[in-house]
Parts: sequence; C-alpha cells; structure tokens
Amino acid sequence: MKELELILENAKKEIEECSKSADLANVKAKYLGKKSTLSDLLSKLKDMSVDDKKIFGKEINEAKNNINKLIEDKNKLITEKLLNEKLENESIDISLPATFIKEGTPNILEKVIEEVEEVFMSMGYDVVDGPEIEEDRFNFELLNIPKGHAARDAQDTFYIEDENILLRSQTSPVQARTMLKGNGEIPIRMICPGKTYRRDDDDATHSHQFMQIEGLLVDHDISLCDLKGTFDVIAKKLFGPDVVTRFRPSYYQFTEPSVETDISCFACHGKGCSLCKNTGWITISGAGMVHPNVLRNCGYDPEKWNGFAFGFGAERCAMLKYGINDIRTFYNTDLREVANFDRREGE
Ligand code: DAH
Repeated sequence: MKELELILENAKKEIEECSKSADLANVKAKYLGKKSTLSDLLSKLKDMSVDDKKIFGKEINEAKNNINKLIEDKNKLITEKLLNEKLENESIDISLPATFIKEGTPNILEKVIEEVEEVFMSMGYDVVDGPEIEEDRFNFELLNIPKGHAARDAQDTFYIEDENILLRSQTSPVQARTMLKGNGEIPIRMICPGKTYRRDDDDATHSHQFMQIEGLLVDHDISLCDLKGTFDVIAKKLFGPDVVTRFRPSYYQFTEPSVETDISCFACHGKGCSLCKNTGWITISGAGMVHPNVLRNCGYDPEKWNGFAFGFGAERCAMLKYGINDIRTFYNTDLREVANFDRREGE
C-alpha cells in the first residue's frame, strides 16, 4: 500500500502549509471527502477477497484517522494563534469610566403597602384581592348602605354602563366578598390593599384614584380591645416604637361602634406642630366592630360571630412617613421627583 503512504505524506505536507481554517477545510475535503482518493480506495474494497478486505480496510481507516487527527491538531493551533493575536492587539483600558446604568426602585407607595402586608401576615392575616370594577351590591348594599342612603354622597364614584356597575369607592366590598366565600362557617383574617376611585377634584391631598388598605377579622368573642391592640402593633411598626394610639368615636355604616384611629404625632411627640395641625395627634384610619347587618347580609350569624374592620389610605400613610406634601407626586411621571424616593432603607 505504497499509495496510502504517499497520500498520507502529501496530506501532512499540505496540512502543515495551511495558515487559515478555510484552507484546512479544503484540504479535508480533498483527502477525506466523497471524491477523495481514500474514498475511491474504500469503494474498491468490495471487489477484494475477505482476507484482503480485512488488511486493506484496516490500513485505509488508519490513514483516514491519521489525517483527521492532523487536521484537528492544526485547527487547534490556528484558533489559538488567532486568539493570542487578538488579545495582544486589543488591550483594555480599565481607567475608562463605566457606562452609567440607571437603576429604578419600587414606587414608595408599594413599599409602604408591602411593609403593612408583612406585619399583618406575621399576625396570620391573608392578603386578598378584589375587583376594581365592582357591583353596587358589594360596594354599598351588602355593607349596610342601601340605595338612596345619604352616606353614599361622600363616596360618589365613576359608573360604568348603568348605576349598578361602578369603580369601587372603597376596598370595603372585599370584606363582603370574603365573608360570602367563608359561608358563615370559617373565621376570617384578611387585609386587602388596592386601588379605589372617587369623583373628587384633584388637589394636594385628594386624587380621583387612590389606594386603600382594608382589614377584616371575623371570629368569636372579639372586642374593641383586639382592634386597639392590632392597631397599636401596626402603628408602632410603621411610625416608630414611641407612638401612642387612641380611638375617637366616629360613624361608618358598616361598623358599630365606629372609631377614628389616631397616633400621637411622631414629629413633635404630641407637643403640636404643623404636621399634626397643633393637635398632637394624626388620624390614620377608620375602623370599628363589624355591624350585625353586614355580618347577616354576608352569611355570618351575628349571634355567633363578631369582628372588627378597618380601612386606611396608603398614600396618606406614605405621605406622613416620608414627608410628602402632594398626593399627585405618587402618580406623576416626572423622574426627578420619583428619584427622591430612591432610598434603600434597612437593606
Ligand atoms: N371604607 C372607609 C372609607 O373609605 C374606611 C373604613 C372605615 C373601612 C371603617 C373600614 C372600616 O373597614 O371599618 O372611608
């Protein structure tokens, strides 16, 4: 098999002469391709005797493997050389300033809501969602505010199609939805943060769209003391361990008795300042014991069950906590204003 030796020798020479991968590919096609001399020799095997087939077959295959190996080795050398050349030519100037990447942060309102969610979850509350497009039944009627009731005036909202479908004016309808799901059988502990809408003229403290955080607890033998204790925990967590809380009598249609919950002013510690309008107190939420009519309307027997509910504005909370004096700041798209909230507390 002189022929094979000759082929191998020629291939070796040509492979050595290659300086580019493309040349190498041509050599490969020439020596190992379908039309190569090696392939010709292989096709002749079929006319040989069995013994010859064994010997020559083996030799041809060895030659093929040898050439393949030579090509692979050379290819490695070429790529390595190319990479080294590239590295030598491209030096990196590490003194160049890095590209500035603008990094966003969550809206500060979301941060406050998450903080509230965490405290309540730690006390065993579920976080529940409800629809923003709501039925009159859930937003008003089941909550003890029948059609035509004067209490509706304070919560005029946006109506869709007819007067029975509206943008919810409060998160309280989620109370009704949760109780109806509970079927009058299971105790409830839930909070529901979400968007609400009212036909308000926008100014520094009013917005036609705002966020509320609603809470509801239904169980046996619940008292106003439980509500006070719960409010105390959340107030201290949000506004600092020194704040003192108090209840003032109030009126809501879905609670009886109803209260306004206040905290002592965290800016002046009760002495009186512009934040607390010189009263020493800041109102945080409306709350009370769930009205028996609401329990009954939503399938809970008021003889067996009772509970408390509360609702407060998330924006108001964030405004107090972060000294923001215009509610519109949360919703405008001026990045210069939003950038003021780019803080990373406690991280
Ligand atoms: N829904 C009331 C409002 O928008 C706030 C509120 C008050 C919610 C008392 C409650 C509550 O659940 O018990 O003004």
